[in-house]
Formats: sequence, structure tokens, C-alpha cells
Amino acid sequence: MKKIVILISGSGTNLQAIIKACENNIINGQIVAVISNKADAYGLKRAKNAHIPTALFERKHYQSNVEMDVAIGDFIAGLGADLIVLAGYMKILTAEFTQRFSGKILNIHPSLLPKFRGLNTYQQALDAGETEHGATVHFVNEQVDGGAVILQAKVPIFPEDSVADIEARVREQELQIYPLVVKWFVDDRLKEIDGKAYLDGQLLSPQGYAID
Ligand code: GRF
Repeated sequence: MKKIVILISGSGTNLQAIIKACENNIINGQIVAVISNKADAYGLKRAKNAHIPTALFERKHYQSNVEMDVAIGDFIAGLGADLIVLAGYMKILTAEFTQRFSGKILNIHPSLLPKFRGLNTYQQALDAGETEHGATVHFVNEQVDGGAVILQAKVPIFPEDSVADIEARVREQELQIYPLVVKWFVDDRLKEIDGKAYLDGQLLSPQGYAID
């Protein structure tokens, strides 16, 4: 069974969805650790409730980002993890880390990449007058929110929408698409080759495999 490590910084709703999919044998993998860089991340409680080992790596204990990521990387390598899932991990990983685990790191970002990288994507979408928004699951490389897109889910933006309305609509989709992509990876259907994403041997388009 494939070993999965999940990195979080916050509430962990995506983590919870992946835990549930593992418990229900939808994902045929084992979450061997949940790692947080924040001691008060609610996702740590979710992991403990599911009897999943947790680990805390705080920046203040390291001289540099590289040193911290080496420590996290050594811990992950020691567990023999096959897949690293970023689920609301709010610290940019160093190039040393992303290269060390190239092709094995997934992230979910709340926008239809390449639109709206970085933070506050819902506000960015509103400000830009967009009529749709969404979420993207992608492989992670050294560029922030820049790796090969695997799957996107779109939601409408209505004229009266607030940021909270859009966020809730996007979140509902995130909780559907992230476990699905983790399943694809664990089932050996999904690969990254030369910076491109392949599903069942087929090159995915720059927008990934899109569902509305
Ligand atoms: C999600 O919106 C995800 O797209 C982004 O961070 C948020 C994490 O939320 N990367 P949660 O911790 O899974 O609840």
C-alpha cells in the first residue's frame, strides 16, 4: 500500500476529505504522517482523531528555510513516503525540497491556474470581474503554484457574491477533486514526466482534466 504524508498549516478540511477517502478504501493508501508548521493548526486534531501520527516543524527552530526543509525531507524519506500532499501548507517550499521529491508532491490551489497565483484568490477574482472561479490540483515544482496542472473544477461567480460565498463554493469542489487526484496517484494512473502531467499514459492539457 502506498504511503502518503500530508502537510498542513491550518484547518485541514482537505486533509479530512483525504482521511475519509482512505478510511472508506476509496484511496488505497495509508496516511503515515501529518506534518504541520503551525502548532495550533486544527488539522493536527483531525489527524489525532483519526489515529494518524503527527509531526511539528516550526521555522523558529531552524537557521534557514533550506535547513527546515532538509529536516522535513529527511523525516519524510525516513517514513518511505510515496506521495507528499500539500493541503493548505502555507509556507513556500525550497527548490531543494521540491527537486528532492520531484513528481511526488501534489498541491491544491483555490483558483483556475494560471490565473490568480498566491493569496486572496477570491478577492482577486472578484476585483477582476470574473464570472467563474475554481480550484486546481497540480504537481509542485520550484515555482509557486506553477507545476503541471492535473485537475480543475470550476464554479460560477454571481453578481451578488461575497468572498465567503465564492470560497464556500470552491471549497466544496476542492473536497471532491483532491481525494480523486490522490486516488489516481496511488493507483499509479498519474505521473509527472519532464514537468508534464500524464493520466493513464495520456498527456493532460495545460488546464488538466477539467470538470464543470
Ligand atoms: C484551501 O483553500 C486550499 O486550496 C489552499 O489552502 C486551503 C486549505 O484549507 N491551498 P484546509 O486547511 O484544507 O481547510
